[in-house]
Amino acid sequence: MPDPVAVNSMFGRIARRYDLANHLLSGGLDVWWRRCLVAAVRRTQPREVLDLATGSGDVAFALARGLPADVAITGMDFCQPMLDEAESKKTAAADPCYARIVFRPGDGLALPLPDASVDAVTISFGLRNLADRPRGLREMHRVLRPGGHLFVLEFSQPHAWFRPLYYFYLRRILPRIAGWVTGDRAAYVYLNETIEQFPDRAALAAEIRAAGFSDVRASGFTLCTVAMHRAKK
Ligand SMILES: C[S@@+](CC[C@H](N)C(=O)[O-])C[C@H]1O[C@@H](n2cnc3c(N)ncnc32)[C@H](O)[C@@H]1O
Repeated sequence: MPDPVAVNSMFGRIARRYDLANHLLSGGLDVWWRRCLVAAVRRTQPREVLDLATGSGDVAFALARGLPADVAITGMDFCQPMLDEAESKKTAAADPCYARIVFRPGDGLALPLPDASVDAVTISFGLRNLADRPRGLREMHRVLRPGGHLFVLEFSQPHAWFRPLYYFYLRRILPRIAGWVTGDRAAYVYLNETIEQFPDRAALAAEIRAAGFSDVRASGFTLCTVAMHRAKK
């Protein structure tokens, strides 16, 4: 599992160029994946949503655009430069629908929230970075109200026939492009390693169940390179 100090400092280094690198490396598909996440959240009609590992805030902003105006949204991350980036995007957008987003620091392994205090937890491309995934999932379960929902958007393992090409892209092409965009090639060697080591849909569903969730369902996107897991407390 990743070292939390190294993860925090790595995201701190790339925070300013994170969005650009994301859009370039995914060919813009990250916007669509997040839109699917928001549509799934909307169907559960939450009143309070926690976007954990919010980073530069793109899921929190998409939630604010896609959910009714009375839904409260908290974006939480343990990396202050990423939260600073989220805050400055919120200020620059000056969009009234973003006013209900609160960005605040917090560690996914010890959430600064009471038990049973939110209706939905989203975590997008963040679970892979947690130093202790079972503990993080138990924390998400703890802060959800009974009947609340967890939504995990994360890289997954693609169809077998596509893996050689995909791993070639991850190992050879992605670190070069990302190094050029962010000036930090090492960060994207780390990204490639964590993607390759991450469980497939069935194994992640089992981990989510082990944390206490039920009704776990997974959908694959883009040849299953990315998956969304939904689960209920
Ligand atoms: C790849 S970014 C994802 C950002 C955003 N959710 C998105 O979809 O673009 C991963 C984020 O996870 C955060 N993170 C990693 N470990 C964390 C932890 N233990 N607690 C809170 N945030 C964490 C990092 O700081 C980083 O901002």
